[in-house]
Amino acid sequence: MKVAVFSAKKYDQESFSQWADSRLKFSFFDVPLDKHSVKLTQGYAAVCVFVNDDLSQPVMAELKTMGVGMIALRCAGFNNVDLAAANELGLRVARVPAYSPEAVAEHTVAMILCLNRKLHKAYNRVRDDNFALDGLLGFNLHGKTVGLVGTGRIGVATAKILLGFGMQLLCYDIKVDDELVKAGARYVPLEELWAQSDIISLHCPLTPQTQHLIDEKSLALMKDGVMLINTSRGGLIDTKAVIKALKSRKIGYLGLDVYEQEADLFFQDLSGQLIDDEVFKRLLTFPNVLITGHQAFFTQEALQQICQVTSENLLAFKANKLSGNEL
Ligand code: NAI
Repeated sequence: MKVAVFSAKKYDQESFSQWADSRLKFSFFDVPLDKHSVKLTQGYAAVCVFVNDDLSQPVMAELKTMGVGMIALRCAGFNNVDLAAANELGLRVARVPAYSPEAVAEHTVAMILCLNRKLHKAYNRVRDDNFALDGLLGFNLHGKTVGLVGTGRIGVATAKILLGFGMQLLCYDIKVDDELVKAGARYVPLEELWAQSDIISLHCPLTPQTQHLIDEKSLALMKDGVMLINTSRGGLIDTKAVIKALKSRKIGYLGLDVYEQEADLFFQDLSGQLIDDEVFKRLLTFPNVLITGHQAFFTQEALQQICQVTSENLLAFKANKLSGNEL
């Protein structure tokens, strides 16, 4: 079966090539799937796509015309897919529901530690023979309160690490994880989580209910100097409201692995080019903001899992069976 892989980077090619056999033939396109590149899918039975590919109704209608029958997402989040349209068009959509939640959890904790102990500054200082400690003062995580919004696979993996640090754990989710409660977490209403947490980390999906969960209203309820971490989806945060809160010192630390308008920026080398996104550029001017380019998932283990499950999803489609990962 011929599969067109979009937004394909070198590491995608290397890992997917290992899974190619006589049943799956991958072709790699470095461009994202959108209304222009969809023309490339003529003759392919399936497309394999990532977080910022365009799976809106018009693009999927064109996929259907080209003869594509399946969309294999090589990620967990699916906010970029118009599922109702896919259903209407009879296109099958499958994802990789969990690929090493620990990878994202560990990156989340890395961001917390880096921001708190200012490792990003210390690294540069020491390389400049500057061993002064002024401006590097951190705080103990032990005994502090962390609020997790979303306690699914990644939220739970993050919770387990942070409980190990001796932190108090407040959680909010639309369903309670009893194991986490037994481990010492306390589920509270969102307002209480905003008000009580020293660190807030987002691990819920982007949905109409969670869009701009962090806005002027929720920020106003938070502690002064709060640390906010988002490794989930950029749309959870109203970036302009967050910039205001950084300026007023309401937010003391901000760690982002995702950004609302990341589709125009992330996963490519733009060094040497002018970046037009003024909001993003403003974020980069704050010394207490750490941004990574959607790399939280990026571990060897996660890549391997992504390839394995995506291939299983494709083979199930080829055999006219269900893999269990369909949306
Ligand atoms: P999951 O499906 O296991 O957990 C999501 C949790 O969010 C569930 O417990 C669900 O009940 C909860 N939830 C749903 N709606 C909610 C709401 N309105 N308020 C509060 N909680 C709500 O998903 P998983 O694997 O933990 O992933 C979480 C998110 O992390 C994904 O949606 C994705 O956007 C993001 N992600 C980011 C990656 C990165 O590289 N930065 C990689 C993988 C996922």
